[in-house]
This record gives sequence, C-alpha cells and structure tokens, in this order.
Amino acid sequence: MILELCNLSKAYPRGNASFFAVQDVSLSLDAGDFVCIAGPSGSGKSTLLGIAAGLIAPTQGRVCFQGQDYDRLDDDARSALRNKSIGYVMQGPSLLPNFTVLQNVMLPYYVSQTRKAEPAPIARAALLLEQVGMLPLASQYPAELSGGELRRVAIARALLQSPGLVIADEPTGDLDEARTEEIMQLFSQFAQEGAALLVVTHDPVPFQYGNHRYVLRAGVMTEAYP
Ligand SMILES: Nc1ncnc2c1ncn2[C@@H]1O[C@H](COP(=O)(O)OP(=O)(O)O)[C@@H](O)[C@H]1O
Ligand SMILES: [Mg+2]
Repeated sequence: MILELCNLSKAYPRGNASFFAVQDVSLSLDAGDFVCIAGPSGSGKSTLLGIAAGLIAPTQGRVCFQGQDYDRLDDDARSALRNKSIGYVMQGPSLLPNFTVLQNVMLPYYVSQTRKAEPAPIARAALLLEQVGMLPLASQYPAELSGGELRRVAIARALLQSPGLVIADEPTGDLDEARTEEIMQLFSQFAQEGAALLVVTHDPVPFQYGNHRYVLRAGVMTEAYP
C-alpha cells in the first residue's frame, strides 16, 4: 500500500461557525493505481490533496504514506519525505520566477538533503522536459511562458525524483486536448511503472484515464459510474 487515507475530515472556520470542506473520506492507493477525482468548484478537492500530501492537517482521520503515519513525523521529516517520494502539481502557479525552466525542474534535487551523494539529474530533467514538450524552452524564465507551458514545467518537476506518489491538482486545466492526452499518457506510464497517481480534474477527457474514479461533492466522496 502506498497511500492510505482513513476517515479524513477537515473543518474550516467560516464566519462564527465552521464547516466541513472534507467529510469522512477514505481511500487507498496501491502501486499502479491511477485515481481520478472530479467534483464542482469548492467541493474540497484541493483540500483533500493537500491533506494527502501532508501539507494540510486533517481535523479528523489519519494519513499513512508508505507505512508512515504523517502524525508521527515532524515538519522536517514530512518535507524530506515529500521531496523524495511525492510529486505534487499545485493548482496555482508554483514555479520560482528567478530560476529558468530547467532550474525549476531541478529544484527537488537542489533542495534534497541527500543531493551531495547523488549526481545532478540533468539528463532526467531534460528527458522529462522533452516528454512534456518543453525542452526547447529550457533556458527561458517563467515570466516568458504561457499558462499551459508553466503547467507542463510544473508537471516535469513533480516527476523528477521518480516519486512513488504523484498528486496533481487540475494538471490539465490550461492545456489543449492534444497536450492533455500527452500528459495523461505520461501519468499512465508512471502508474504502469509502479507509482500511484492521485489526480483531480474537471475535464471528462483526462478523467477517463483513471482506473479508479470518484466524485467529490460538498466534501463527500462517492465512486463515479460512467
Ligand atoms: N484555508 C481555508 N480557510 C477557510 N476555508 C477554506 C480554506 N481553504 C479552502 N476553504 C474552503 O473550503 C472549500 C473547499 O475548498 P477547495 O478544497 O479549494 O475546493 P476545490 O479544490 O474543490 O475547488 C471551499 O468552500 C473553500 O472556500
Ligand atoms: Mg481546487
């Protein structure tokens, strides 16, 4: 088992009360699983992904990643685990403006605690950039790129460390259909090689790539039937 989400709930304050953005969600991902979650805006998708990555603490429930309970790790240990083993594609912009495209893809290596022992994975970064169609722009800066180009660089970066778990929050939201298929095929290939994929998407095309599909509505998750 790569990731286990057990009875997760997340309450946020709203006015003088609180409401549940995520309500009693449980989900397990094995190696090779490709999970897609759809749902309307505000239904708790990004919150759920943040909890799965250990970035947001749940109000109730627990998360177990590769046999380790996030609760039992301090912030540094969780960061190290994420750096090595979780590729996260954020919903919003996430590239560093003063780094080139190639440097942004290399970022997980630059910040990793074990990097001194390992050669810089420049060839891998270049391969990933090629796979997302961004190698010709490797020396550009984020300000010079379109939204779809920025997204593809963020996807390449998430895959750099060959993570056991890839979490992607609407990764194809600003891509055309051909690029969308390319990215989802790349994700499928990662799943076939033994990673677990957890992807949130509005779009029916990428949604079909999931071998497990769910819908989140008002924080409650149910299986999706075609
Ligand atoms: N930090 C926060 N504080 C309070 N409310 C939040 C916070 N983050 C998200 N929310 C609320 O939780 C709900 C779910 O948000 P989110 O997980 O971003 O939904 P989605 O990704 O499905 O659009 C929304 O109503 C949003 O306004
Ligand atoms: Mg969201």
